[in-house]
Amino acid sequence: MRPYEVIHRKRDGRPVPPEAIADLVARYAEGSVPDYQMAAFCMAVFFRGMSEPELQALTGAMLRSGDVLDLSDIPGAKVDKHSTGGVGDKTSLAIAPLVAACGVKVPMVSGRGLGHTGGTLDKLQSIPGFQIHLPVERFRELVASVGACLVGQTDRIAPADRKLYALRDLTATVESIPLIAGSIMSKKLAEGIDGLVLDVKVGSGAFMKRLPDAVLLARTLVGIGRGMGKDVVALVTDMDQPLGRTVGNALEVKEILHLLHGGGPADLREVTVVLAAEMLVLGGVAATPAEGRVLVEQAIADGRGFRKLCEIVEAQGGDPRALVEPDRLPRAERVVDVLAPATGVVEAIDAEAVGLAAMALGAGRSRVEDPVDPAAGLEVWKKIGDRVEAGEPIAAMHLGLRPLEPPDAVAARLRAAWRIGAGPASPGPLVLQRIEEGVT
Ligand code: URA
Repeated sequence: MRPYEVIHRKRDGRPVPPEAIADLVARYAEGSVPDYQMAAFCMAVFFRGMSEPELQALTGAMLRSGDVLDLSDIPGAKVDKHSTGGVGDKTSLAIAPLVAACGVKVPMVSGRGLGHTGGTLDKLQSIPGFQIHLPVERFRELVASVGACLVGQTDRIAPADRKLYALRDLTATVESIPLIAGSIMSKKLAEGIDGLVLDVKVGSGAFMKRLPDAVLLARTLVGIGRGMGKDVVALVTDMDQPLGRTVGNALEVKEILHLLHGGGPADLREVTVVLAAEMLVLGGVAATPAEGRVLVEQAIADGRGFRKLCEIVEAQGGDPRALVEPDRLPRAERVVDVLAPATGVVEAIDAEAVGLAAMALGAGRSRVEDPVDPAAGLEVWKKIGDRVEAGEPIAAMHLGLRPLEPPDAVAARLRAAWRIGAGPASPGPLVLQRIEEGVT
């Protein structure tokens, strides 16, 4: 079917044969379908959506446009976790070692931070020497021997998605649930995994601000994964305030070290444990999430998670002394408190504004090619439901060497991000839904 006909059918809301979609994507990837036709197709999908067979075809074609890892010679189930992105969301740094310490292999291909959301790769790179680009053979070797390996994407993973995402970014077609779901799953399924736990964030700091959208995205992601024969489960989790108490790369690594030593903020610990427990179920070492939780908590309590993180860091060229003595991690020269403008109860926090403030201090980037400052970021002292006196610190800014904005301007934005009122207020549940069934 010619690209014109595919676009025409989709525009009018008529079904498109899955083979025609696969062909369109393959030809777009090789350059024989021009951007203007693909852009028209994306806009038609934006308004009309996609049926499950159409979406399977789109995802499969993006997946096949590049390399697909085969880890089948490594014994046992290989399970990864993917988060749709949030503020202070550092759970991967603890989940990979905890799950590996419990006997499930974790081949983790992560992303960089962009805009208000952070990325696992940037956090890992605040550990001196840590290598995120490894040859495929070394990746495979470390998954087999250490039990987990955390690397960045190569250009060879789903190149059609890379090209399509750039086009969507310029044509106002990013915010389409089928296109987002196909994009995420094409990259994840290229990792050679058997199972995947999805953490779909919802709230002021998430891509999806409303629960029905997050649930639909979660169900769509699960549907694609299951359609491709993988074990997939999604948890919809709260992102109405930063997770834990830190936002910024080295600060987040330090917070994870507290967690792996049995401490750390309760919300961060809970989300980490529930996601890791689901991975143990998919990996076949726990029969239920409750059983998985017990195993994960044991791996925290007896220090196996921390030791596994040290092993991973050492195997990937990092300096494990930075984990034993966290003062060796990058540290900001100046820390400046942000003071509460009023007395009352924290009723809400605009988590996206907090993420953007951390970015403005140098902890994040607005363009993929920008550098980040590992020491820059924020500590969040007052969270939803906390009482606060006017003039008391609600947050602390760790000033990077090259802030994108003057600290005073960032402090003003942070003060505006906290809504302080008469209360009472309390945070919502951390896990809003667990989704095992895809959209049919
Ligand atoms: N993340 C992705 O990988 N793809 C999208 O389309 C949106 C977010």
